[in-house]
Amino acid sequence: MVRGPDEIRQVMVIGAGTMGHGIAQVSAMAGYRTMLVDVKEEFVAHGIERIKANLQSGVERGKVTEEACDAALKALSTATDLGIAAAKADLVIEAVPEDMELKKRIFRTLDEHAPEGALLTSNTSSLSVAEIASATSRPGSVLGMHFFNPVHIMKLLEIVWHDDTDDAALATAAAVGKRMDKDPIVVKDSPGFATSRLGIVLGNEAIRMVEEGVASPEDIDKAMELGYRHPMGPLKLSDIVGLDVRLNVSDYLHDTLGGEHYKPPELLRRLVKEGKLGKKTGEGFYKY
Ligand SMILES: NC(=O)c1ccc[n+]([C@@H]2O[C@H](COP(=O)([O-])OP(=O)(O)OC[C@H]3O[C@@H](n4cnc5c(N)ncnc54)[C@H](O)[C@@H]3O)[C@@H](O)[C@H]2O)c1
Repeated sequence: MVRGPDEIRQVMVIGAGTMGHGIAQVSAMAGYRTMLVDVKEEFVAHGIERIKANLQSGVERGKVTEEACDAALKALSTATDLGIAAAKADLVIEAVPEDMELKKRIFRTLDEHAPEGALLTSNTSSLSVAEIASATSRPGSVLGMHFFNPVHIMKLLEIVWHDDTDDAALATAAAVGKRMDKDPIVVKDSPGFATSRLGIVLGNEAIRMVEEGVASPEDIDKAMELGYRHPMGPLKLSDIVGLDVRLNVSDYLHDTLGGEHYKPPELLRRLVKEGKLGKKTGEGFYKY
């Protein structure tokens, strides 16, 4: 039987990078014993340092109490041996790089070592959850838990189910997500899930409008911010996410779903080729 919400005590987060450290933070803040796992001691240590710095700044800004910060730090532990760590996990959230073979290898190890009934989830932003699940002998326990960056701030959690996902696993993931202070939505395993599938269309069209000289990037963003109440226009958002990331997702959606609206605009390809990847390189549609 898949674990129910009250049976989730030990959460294991695999990968201590951008997403993993944030997921471990919200998990520990929700009161779960949380183990952060990466391939090297220095990587997990760096993840823990980032969590400490985040929580400390929360305390300074009056958003987190000293007690909550101390309790979260106490709830955290680290490991570098995937198999040993998996043996204790009630819920696993994998956040290693977006590489199907790597993810499948990890899920094979989880299948060997995780207790029966444990939920095995992936934070993948685009890969097929059903294919990841196929690396295990228990696809019913496998689903997507797609958090957004920065994890401690972004409210959305996309919970992704595939044809074999157990209903109980879905219910547990949603309950755990709420306890982590997220607002979950439930999405069928399909390219781009709900967020990228819609977001890429808007982003691509905005880029095509820049290409055609319809309006400046500032005015296109303002159109959505003031006219449609988007907190941030699509070009600013693309710069923040990284134009290389947007291009990869756009290519992937075009290959899998077809449709001209997913085809990456030439301007996007050119900017990526020129190394103008957005905020991280100092220039994209805007200069930083
Ligand atoms: N960055 C984002 O904005 C974002 C948002 C949503 C989802 N995602 C998804 O989250 C996942 C992680 O992305 P990220 O940006 O945090 O990547 P990242 O590169 O910042 O971190 C990945 C971490 O995984 C570790 N790792 C690699 N192989 C490992 C292994 N075998 N065992 C344990 N750890 C291993 C790496 O050392 C690294 O610390 C990806 O699937 C990505 O698509 C990313």
